[in-house]
Amino acid sequence: MRSSNDPATGPGDPASDNQNILGAGPRGPLLLQDRQLIEKLARFNRERVPEGTAHPFDLSACGVFEVTNPEVPRYTRMRMFSEVGKRTEVFVRFSTADRSQRAGNAIRNPQDFAVRFYTEDGDWDLAGSNSPVFFIRDPLKLPYLIHSQKTDPHTDRQRADNVWDFFSRSPEATHQVTWLFGDRGLPRSWRHMDGYGAHAFQWINAAGERLWVKFHFKTDQGIECLTTEEAARISSEFPRHLRHDLYRAVEDGNFPSWTLNVQIMPEADVAGSRIDPFDLTKVWPHGDYPLIEVGRLTLDRLPDTCVAEVERSAFDPGHMVTGVGPSPDRMLQARLFAYGESRHCRLAPNFHRCQGLRGGVATGVREADDFAQAGVLYRLMPEAERERLVAAIAGSLSQVQRTAAGDSAVCRSIGHFCRADRGYGRRVALAVKALRGGVRTASFRAREAAPAHSYAAVPTVPRLPSGVTDQSVWLAPSSPGLPATLKGALSNSGARAWKS
Ligand code: HEM
Repeated sequence: MRSSNDPATGPGDPASDNQNILGAGPRGPLLLQDRQLIEKLARFNRERVPEGTAHPFDLSACGVFEVTNPEVPRYTRMRMFSEVGKRTEVFVRFSTADRSQRAGNAIRNPQDFAVRFYTEDGDWDLAGSNSPVFFIRDPLKLPYLIHSQKTDPHTDRQRADNVWDFFSRSPEATHQVTWLFGDRGLPRSWRHMDGYGAHAFQWINAAGERLWVKFHFKTDQGIECLTTEEAARISSEFPRHLRHDLYRAVEDGNFPSWTLNVQIMPEADVAGSRIDPFDLTKVWPHGDYPLIEVGRLTLDRLPDTCVAEVERSAFDPGHMVTGVGPSPDRMLQARLFAYGESRHCRLAPNFHRCQGLRGGVATGVREADDFAQAGVLYRLMPEAERERLVAAIAGSLSQVQRTAAGDSAVCRSIGHFCRADRGYGRRVALAVKALRGGVRTASFRAREAAPAHSYAAVPTVPRLPSGVTDQSVWLAPSSPGLPATLKGALSNSGARAWKS
């Protein structure tokens, strides 16, 4: 007998038989009037939610957030932070950002860290990642970014040419690229990495004052990373190891936790700030805005039902509650729209409620420096990590094909690393040259002849010097027209003649 809550019947009467269809007699065809059969097959067809274009999710876990700092209500009137010891249930989703759900995750790729707080005022989603910054500050470039990182549909492998074509045309990505190719770009497990809300958000306190806030989840397990070699081995032996690691840890009662910290920026600081505080390619200096502990997030349960709890839970940066709101960060502003839109496509038009946007603020336009923080990050790294960083970048950059377009992408990318730090760029240049060979200056002429690319900010590249016509001339420190930064870096490196 079919039970009265069998989903196959939908809102209709409980069915009396879930073992047999309605047929025209014992050997006749089935009847269209068998609503239970039609409903059951229709539901079965829709059981899987289509994968999102960006950031398809991987594994989710449930847990609790507990407040540890009595001072938080000074900064926000969010009720979930109102007193020490207050607990809020959470649902956290991890994923490997630019890969499909089927792909391996021991790869150099941002790892998503999306937290949903089930607060008494509704759901608050903080859909961030393991990096404090992002590749771009302009949401128009997001589709180019995602497409350049995704695997090639023919080979199901990432193409270095696509990756570096995008990076080399996006100087603002240099900071995130330096971070990604550093040790933290390959976390040993999701438990051993930090999580970041990344954007600035606004907090409003009980007095109605507005502060800008950034959220940082610091792992209590400690940071642990894989080397490039370890990741390559794991990828081939056990491609979904991040997923299995978290699953096993929670199943075994080895519950991972993170300490939530915030950086707070008073509204008055914005005007005089050296950097644009709402630029997602930048961090806020910790010296100016130290971390303030807020509470602890612990994951202690796996979801009971994958379809209901995991597949249908669509995170949305627009899910906010009283006391927290968006900042003028343009990437965040675009995300407020994009996730609801994606949900409408993937799930159902009215699946979740979507909160309206709150008021914005006007901000001045600052000259963006795309390289300074990447240089700071490079110089903060111990020498051994710098070596690994350079090897990882060169390993990827040297796979770019030796075509005119490929040479231009390599040259532009090296120029970016030089501008972040001359030593950094020089080392990348030498390592790439050792692995791939130099760069044909003729490629620049080809590039100049090519139609203008759609990205706005393309750095200047050298003209082919007059009298030099030969494709075999390689980029050398003495090449006329070479960007000064790159020329200096190559001269200092002792590289003299780069002839094929
Ligand atoms: C303009 C910039 C961005 C756009 C337009 C965008 C768009 C999207 C879309 C359409 C999805 C799929 C949502 C769904 O179908 O449920 C998604 C997922 C996701 N994105 Fe973004 N994204 C942007 C930037 C970012 C950034 C900067 C981060 C991290 C700091 C991020 C983190 C995530 C995460 C964690 C998910 C998965 C959420 C989940 O598990 O449901 N995104 N993004």
